[in-house]
Order: sequence, then structure tokens, then C-alpha cells
Amino acid sequence: MKNLYRVAVVAVGITVAPFMNAELPGLIPLPESVEENVGAKPFKLDSRTEILFQVGNANTEKNARFFAALLKKNAGLNLKIKALPKGQKPAAGTICFADSRTVKAPEAYTLRVSKSGVVIRAGTDAGLFYGIQTLRQLLPPQATFDGVAERNFSAEIPACEITDAPRFAWRGMHLDSCRHYQDLEWIKKLIDMLASHKINTLHWHLTDDQGWRIEIKKYPKLTQSAAWRSGIGFGLDPNSTTHYDKKKRYGGFYTQKQAKELIEYAAARHITIVPEIELPGHALAALTVYPEYGCTGGPYKMGMQGGVFEDVYCVGNEKTLKFLEDVLDEVSELFPSKFIHVGGDECPKKRWEKCSKCQAKIKAEGLKNEHELQSHVIQHMERHLSAKGKRLIGWDEILEGGLAKGAAVMSWRGTSGGIASARMGHDVVMAPYTHVYLDYAQARSGEPRSMGGFIPFERVYQFNPTAGVPAEFQKHILGGQANVWTEYIPNEKHAEYMIAPRISALAEVVWTPQKNRRWDDFSKRMSDQYTRFDLSNFNYRRPSDIRFEETENGIVFIPALRNTHVVYTLDGSEPTASSKKFTGKPIPVGSEPLKISARMVGADGKLYGVIQKFVNLPKFKVSTTIEYHDANTPDQIYDASLDNVFWSNRSPRSGDTVTLVFENSQNFVSIRAITGKEKKGGGGDALKNGILEVSSDGEKFTEVAKFSSGIASGKISAPIKAFRIRVLGSQSDWLVIREVELEK
Ligand code: ACM
Ligand code: ZN
Repeated sequence: MKNLYRVAVVAVGITVAPFMNAELPGLIPLPESVEENVGAKPFKLDSRTEILFQVGNANTEKNARFFAALLKKNAGLNLKIKALPKGQKPAAGTICFADSRTVKAPEAYTLRVSKSGVVIRAGTDAGLFYGIQTLRQLLPPQATFDGVAERNFSAEIPACEITDAPRFAWRGMHLDSCRHYQDLEWIKKLIDMLASHKINTLHWHLTDDQGWRIEIKKYPKLTQSAAWRSGIGFGLDPNSTTHYDKKKRYGGFYTQKQAKELIEYAAARHITIVPEIELPGHALAALTVYPEYGCTGGPYKMGMQGGVFEDVYCVGNEKTLKFLEDVLDEVSELFPSKFIHVGGDECPKKRWEKCSKCQAKIKAEGLKNEHELQSHVIQHMERHLSAKGKRLIGWDEILEGGLAKGAAVMSWRGTSGGIASARMGHDVVMAPYTHVYLDYAQARSGEPRSMGGFIPFERVYQFNPTAGVPAEFQKHILGGQANVWTEYIPNEKHAEYMIAPRISALAEVVWTPQKNRRWDDFSKRMSDQYTRFDLSNFNYRRPSDIRFEETENGIVFIPALRNTHVVYTLDGSEPTASSKKFTGKPIPVGSEPLKISARMVGADGKLYGVIQKFVNLPKFKVSTTIEYHDANTPDQIYDASLDNVFWSNRSPRSGDTVTLVFENSQNFVSIRAITGKEKKGGGGDALKNGILEVSSDGEKFTEVAKFSSGIASGKISAPIKAFRIRVLGSQSDWLVIREVELEK
């Protein structure tokens, strides 16, 4: 029987999305169309399998050899590679790399697996390469991910047909190598992981206030000295990194030779490295060694913590512009990327206001003010790069004051800058801090030090780069990327943890058609991806998710990770390794309200996060006057989970409310509302000025407690019909409500 994922239902002409069936390993990102031939015999891969490449196209042989090398390294299989003459059909027992004139889109491929063989077809090198990435995921992960040779390895590949092409051309990740330097070999490991997710762009942030990382031959002091600082900075533990030189200086840099090696390594995996040279702000490292390019002339001190510094390049000085042009010239020569990123974000204008050179420039060019001076400099660099056949891209601040047509914009302060740019005809990459800043924490508690903020895995998955972009301008959205700023990420293992698994969500956002994406389906497929991360020794945040499925006979737990078991309690206490073990048999839950707590236990005894759920809750409705994020609905204030939260989508104002009304009156003795976190020094997403109220009729409310440090708790002496949280003063940070706990 053929199990078509594109099955017509509901009405003729409407198709449902091609979700993955449990039979196939989890493909990440989900291909455009997957048809599993359920019941058909699988293909058997073993030491007798031959790898064929159709002659007449250099790419087929190259990819055949790349795939064979993966199998050799990981599965110890030394497979024969043979040319298949034009017009000949592949013999049984082969994996064939075929040229295709019909699979035309630049990165598209088809993959067909049957008992007799596997055929990957594509019209391009990249298409064949992406066919390999999908085939790797169809194989047991040990075959191509773990680097451990096994004797007599063999595997079955399920019979299926896949047709695939990406949604966006720019599928990126950004890496900040300035705040903390990373090993070149590690960046190669990162590239392998990104390529396996069909990500094709690495935006490499190479210059900033805390270090200059790329060798520029004309200006040797940039790496002799400006690549180093006196210590780790950022208030971090000096032992959390090993990147010190013999003189105990902290930092490092990449020679042009090393950069070239990396560029080639990435290119072989269809990843373009887009270099970023920050200007006119974030320039302190360069100014420490070339103080003459700053407005005050220095001396300047290397940045030792994050933030925005007032000392920036003096762009009224022709010599500074020449320096920047020289740097861009060497970088343009070194990096084949069409795009060169020039930063452009967070440039204070304070020094320019007081600088005679900058003021003279404003006058001479007929500019209105310092903001136009910034725009003038970006336009200058745009012309300079254009003349070299390159295109400028910069953070969304470059839009201010006008921008040359050919320049592209990277939208980070939300997506509104990107939307405005697209409307003006600029190409745009969406990288908003609301969804894809991987330096933000992945959970509300229990995480390593981070930039703060909160971007859980699911939130990345909700990102849609064209959301809010009118249809006629969507062609300007090149794609999306995740940003990895490293202020609080001092070593590579920590970087991996911040990147994975969120990068898997980003990969699907930018590859898979929007209409085919479903969080539930994705999170099921992730079980296999976690195994791939494990085998590749790529650190990742272990999910604590356990899905609770309600069956006729009770609750069933489905853990996100394989090789784990689930322990649980039904009395509200925290499950431990010795709590009741879930055996697969549904757990009866009766009809009384019950709080179920469960967690995974790894084969190594590791305890994962606790997941809780209420069952048989009294019926209720929650309403609010505040707009909220679509995955952070108000009902999550009463769901037994501190991690599923209500999250407003604007600053709360005085008079705003979140109200829960029960269908029938309830007897409780106490109530406690837990909102977000207060930030040191002010701000944060806790409720600062507000009260918690209850009501016996759902209309008249009386105060139970005031919020203090984001929490309000009090006693209840009579049955209640409703409770509500009322904001008494405006606050700028968006509000988080984690949970309201009620005790009987
Ligand atoms: C940025 O995050 N400052 C682009
Ligand atoms: Zn100046």
C-alpha cells in the first residue's frame, strides 16, 4: 500500500500537509513532499552496495565520492564507486547520483528509495548534496554521523519518494567570533552540522569592540595587538576558556590562510561565509591600535564588557574612510561571497557632534545632521563594494537616512525594519531578536548564564520570515537567519548548547513550506535529531518534553528522547529516579482534579526536567485586555507548568487585566500568581505594579495581594468564581505570567 502524505481530504482540491509518518526516521528540515511506500521492501545497504555516478556531469561523481567517504569514515564501509554511462539504467543494489534536467530549481533534488536501489537526482551540485543530507537522515544515524567504524555494517532504508526544494535562498546562522574567539576546527564541526540541516550561509562577525579577528595584511597591528585583550572580561570565569596566548593575553585571530581554508571547507558543503566588518560603530578594538581613526585621537581601551561604546570611527576623516576601504578590499578579495556585511548597528553619534572633522564633513556634504552622516558613510561603502562587484548588507539601522537600491538589509530589531525595507525594494534577511537570537535563554530557569531574554525552542519554530510582509513585496525576503552573539558564551561547548536544538527549528523555518510546518509533527521528528547530535558529539539543550496523550484508559507518556524512560507522580510531588516507572500501560486518572508530574530518566541515570499537567480540571475561560504572542496564550497561566507562559505582545498599561472565570464556583484556600523576572537595575518581564483579585460572582473583585518581586500570594476564605491580575502602572517590558497556583 502506498501511503501518500499529500492526501486529498475535506473537499476536492484541498490537500493536507505532508506530515511525516512514524515509520520514517525524523527528517529535519521536513522535505517539501514525502511519500512513504508502506509495505514495500526497504533497500538494504551493506558492503556489496555500489555507488554509481552518471557520467557527463562533474557534480554526480563529486557527490558520489563525498557520500562514499562519509560511509567509510563512519560505518567502515568501503563501497565501490562506478561510472554509469549515459542512457544506462542503474543495476539493482546500487545508490545512484543522477543528473536531471527536470529537477531545475537551484537547490532542488528528488530521492527515490526502493528495494532495488536508491536514486538521487538533481540539476545542480547543491541539489545532489541536499539529497545526500536527506539520505543520511533516512539511514541509521551511526552510518554517517558518529565516526565509529563497525564491522559488517548493514542497514535498511525505507522505501519512499521525496521531492524537495527550499523555501528561501538565504538560510543562515550568524556567529560572533569577536566577544570570544572559537577554534577553526570547531567552526568546521559547526559547518558540518549546519550543512546537515541544509543551512547555506554562515554570517561571520569578525570585528567588534572586544577584538579584531581577521588578518588584514595592510594593517598588521589589527591582529598583532587588537585581537587580544588583557582578560576574559564580561565578568566570566577566566577558566571557562582556553584561548590565551603565551603572554596570557586572551583572544586570537584567523589568518587569511586559515580563513581561506574555512571558506573552502564551507563551500564544499554549500555554505557561503558572509564576513562582517563593523562600521562605523563597534570599532573600539581597531581604535586601540589606530587611534588616529577615532574622533578624539584616543588613547582607547579594548572593550571588556558588552554594550554600546561611544567611541566610534571618525568618518569626517578621509584617512579613516581609506582605512575602511582598504579593509573591505582585502576582505572582498578573500571571501568569494557576493554579500559583504558592514554592520551599521548601534552607532552613537556623541563623538561626531563634538568633532571638527565630522562637523566639517556634514557641512561640506550638505547633510542635515549626524544621522545623515551615518547614512552618507554607508552609501559611500555601498558604492565602493558595488564597484568591486559585491553587494552591501547591514543591520536595519542602515535604512535610516536612505540607502542605495542594491544594498540589502538584515532586520534584527524585530521585523518592522525588514518590512519597511522590502516595501522600498530592498532585499531583506529577517533575523529578529524576538525569535532567533540564540544568545537568549532557552528556559525561564535552570539555564547557564546568557544575554537574558527568553527564546524557547518552540518560539524559534514560530518564526515566519514573511509574516506581515505584503504579498507583492515578499520576493524581497531572501530568507532568515539565527544570530549567535557570544558575550556570555566563552567556549565552544557552551556555543553548541545555545545553538542546538534551536538551529533545527530555524532550519525548518527557512527550508520547509510554511503550510507544511506543524510544531507537534516537528517535535516528534526531533527525537531522531537528538540522536544525531549525540553521535556527532554536538552539545545541545536536552528537551524535557514528554507528550501526554489522553486515551480511553488513561494517560500515556511519550518522551522526546529515545533511550530514556519516564518516571511519574500523581500527588504533586517531584518525581525522582525511584518514583513509579511508566511501563507503557495507560495510567487511569479518575474524575477528580489531578496534577501529574513526569520526567525522563536517561540510560545513564540523568534526570531531565519535570513536566506537569492538570487533568480533570474544573472548566474555565481566560480573557485579557492585552495582546499576546500566539504561542503564549492566557490559558497557560493555569496549566501546572511554570514554563508554558502567558507573554504579552506589548507593554502593559494601567488598567490592563488577565481574568480567569470558572464555570462553577470553587473552594480554594490560597492563591499565588507568579509573573516573570525582574532585571537587576530595573526592567524585566515581571509585573511591577499590580494586584491579584478574586471574585465570588465573576463581576465584583476584591484585592487579595499586591505584586512584589513579580509574585502575589494570599488566602481565600470563601468560594470563588474568578480571579484576575490587574495592572496598576505602565511598564515598558512585556509582561510574562508563568502560573497561578490555587490550593484546596
Ligand atoms: C545587533 O544585535 N546589534 C545587530
Ligand atoms: Zn570625527
